Parts: sequence; C-alpha cells; structure tokens
Amino acid sequence: MTNPRLAVLASGRGSNFEAIQNAIKKGWCHAEIKLLITDNPKAGAIQIAQSNRIPVEIVNREDFTAREYMDEKIKQLLDSYRIDLVILAGYMRIISSKKLLNSYAGRILNIHPSLLPKFKGSMHAQADAFDAGEKISGATVHYVTADVDGGGIVLQQEIDISQCKSAVEAAQLILTQVEHELYYKAINLALDMLKAEGKIK
Ligand code: GRF
Repeated sequence: MTNPRLAVLASGRGSNFEAIQNAIKKGWCHAEIKLLITDNPKAGAIQIAQSNRIPVEIVNREDFTAREYMDEKIKQLLDSYRIDLVILAGYMRIISSKKLLNSYAGRILNIHPSLLPKFKGSMHAQADAFDAGEKISGATVHYVTADVDGGGIVLQQEIDISQCKSAVEAAQLILTQVEHELYYKAINLALDMLKAEGKIK
C-alpha cells in the first residue's frame, strides 16, 4: 500500500512544513510530502525541502501575466506529481482560480492562526487577537474554498494567551504550542475522510 501524496505550498520560513515532515518521520502521519511549491525563491521552506530530499518548484508571480495563469501552473504541477492532498503552510497568496479550487475541492487545507471565524482573512490574526485583549486564541485548519478562511473546519485548538506580554509572544506561543501539533492531526483526519469517500486508497 502506498502512502497518500502531499504537496506543501509555503512562502516563508516553513516551520509548519517542517513540523509536518517531522510528524511523518515519527510515524504520526501516514503520508509522504512529494513536492514543495513556493512563490518565494528565498523562502526558508526551500532549505527544509532540500534537506529532506523533497523536490522544490518555484512558481513566481512575476513570471505570469495574470494570477489565473500562476494557479494554472500550480494545478499542472499538482496533477503531474499525482498529489492527493495540498497543504497550505504560510502560503501568502490567495488561490482564486476556479479551475484549481474545483479540481482539488476537499483536497486543499490551510492553517490560520486564530479561532476561526474570529479574525477571518487577517494577515496578522495573532496580533489582532492580542490587541483585542482576547484571553484565549488558537489556530484552525480548514478546507480552502473561494471564501478566504471560510471553508469547512477540520480541526481547531485553543490556547491561553493571557500571560503573553506582546503580540509577537502570542504568535510564537500559538505557532509552537498549537499549530505545530494541530496540522498533522488535521491532515490525518482529512486523509481518513478521503479514504472513507473512496477518493484515495
Ligand atoms: C503561520 O502562523 C500560519 O498559521 C500562517 O503563516 C504562518 C506560517 O509560518 N498561515 P511558517 O512558515 O509555517 O513558519
């Protein structure tokens, strides 16, 4: 039996990507990351991929006349690597192509550092929660749809941020104590669901 095939899309340092890869290595997640796609040639995620011998494809917005074409390229890559589940992990672009969203409906996950629907669509959700004086925040893994951060929730986990002295501290706490623990569990659930539906073996 072969493991489900994952692709990660990341734009930055890639700590969620690394946490998922570590969970796979530990046998906590029965899948294989077959591809990293990044829009940022300087992303830290590239080094993580290279040290794990994961192929990297750079899909740079500058190389496309329209966002639609960029998403089309991403779809071609996902198809050619026969990807079962797509993992957005700090991917700083909105996927807007209907073709990509429809072809991979129910097969694209994102992590958002808030208790959705709180701070939906925010690029700095942890700071928003801190500034709003929230005592409890957390992270949410959800399906990606045309409604940004509005797709069905797979898993959500809370954490007490009331002792944090700054938004940066709150973000770090959410990242290390919640996000890195939550994402691989959500991947397991999403894969189980796809298997139950007969969409992957
Ligand atoms: C995380 O906080 C994630 O929730 C958000 O972007 C950040 C990515 O961090 N979408 P990293 O690149 O995984 O370290």
